[in-house]
Amino acid sequence: MLTSFIREEDEQSEYSLRPRFLTEYIGQSEVKEHMRIYIEAAKGRGEPLDHALLYGPPGLGKTTLASIIANEMGGGLRVTSGPAITHAGDLAALLTNLAMGDVLFIDEIHRLNATVEEVLYPAMEDFALDIIIGKGPGARSIRLDLPHFTLVGATTRMGMLTSPLRDRFGIKEQLALYQSEELCTIIKRSAGILRIGVDEKGAREIAARARGTPRIANRLLRRVRDFAQVRGNGVVDIEAAREGLNMLGIDALGLDPVDRRMLETMIEKFGGRPVGLDTIAAATGEDATTIEDVYEPYLLQLGFIARTPRGRVVMDAGYTHMGYPVPQNAGAGMQTKMDLGYAE
Ligand code: ADE
Repeated sequence: MLTSFIREEDEQSEYSLRPRFLTEYIGQSEVKEHMRIYIEAAKGRGEPLDHALLYGPPGLGKTTLASIIANEMGGGLRVTSGPAITHAGDLAALLTNLAMGDVLFIDEIHRLNATVEEVLYPAMEDFALDIIIGKGPGARSIRLDLPHFTLVGATTRMGMLTSPLRDRFGIKEQLALYQSEELCTIIKRSAGILRIGVDEKGAREIAARARGTPRIANRLLRRVRDFAQVRGNGVVDIEAAREGLNMLGIDALGLDPVDRRMLETMIEKFGGRPVGLDTIAAATGEDATTIEDVYEPYLLQLGFIARTPRGRVVMDAGYTHMGYPVPQNAGAGMQTKMDLGYAE
């Protein structure tokens, strides 16, 4: 009960922290610039925005962008997710309840099932819903017109989208991990909204350990605030940030106990040599999808691991950060890559 209460509190404040318009949205400057142009052009023509697909690791603001699109376009927002739409009828109900210019946001859109996807194609392309009435030889299909809406799809897995679905999005934008300075600005903005006292160094410390992810930055800010309130003077300064984050098991670069267990397993059990995702998952007790979506992007960005055709390898920087000597021959990432003739 307690955990679900805490989650709810975090989720609610996460909601209030969301920027509502593009001007308030920090970072992702290219995506923002593109969206600004597409939105202005669509508004100028008096048309709804083209369907947009947002992809990238979790926690970077895909839902936030969808709600910004709705606000900027002056439409309503309906939020759902791939796994939540189990039947074609669920999607039909959602679609028929939309108004012209509304945004339908489908998170984890790669998890839509094939039957539901079939309904989505004519809805996206022709704003039409094909309904079968009756059964057997007497069955007939009727076509219902739908209001011109904008579908915003989000996925952590561009590669898992079927190509007919991918091709129906006129706008495709990839969200990248945030720079530390951008996270610092986000933390200061969030602290202002939540009335948390934070100084520059405290904000920077949290930003440096937030793995390029605003959702993590905001969560760490709240946990360090708790720490500062109980153990310090209530202000998130450098001491509170350091001690609070250390207590959470988050190291200087933001690696958490799962990241470290993953690296340790790859080094100790597999000598840093290429190892498959499923093997890493089994050896660490983590879910393979979670490793791929949540843990890997940051470790790849840090250059601690690399992907090769034969599996994941630990790179020199990964050994060093984990306090292991860098192996002289095989096992070191670059060596393995060259051995394989792996071209990037
Ligand atoms: N809160 C979460 N993500 C944000 C972003 N990109 N800009 C501003 N505030 C945010």
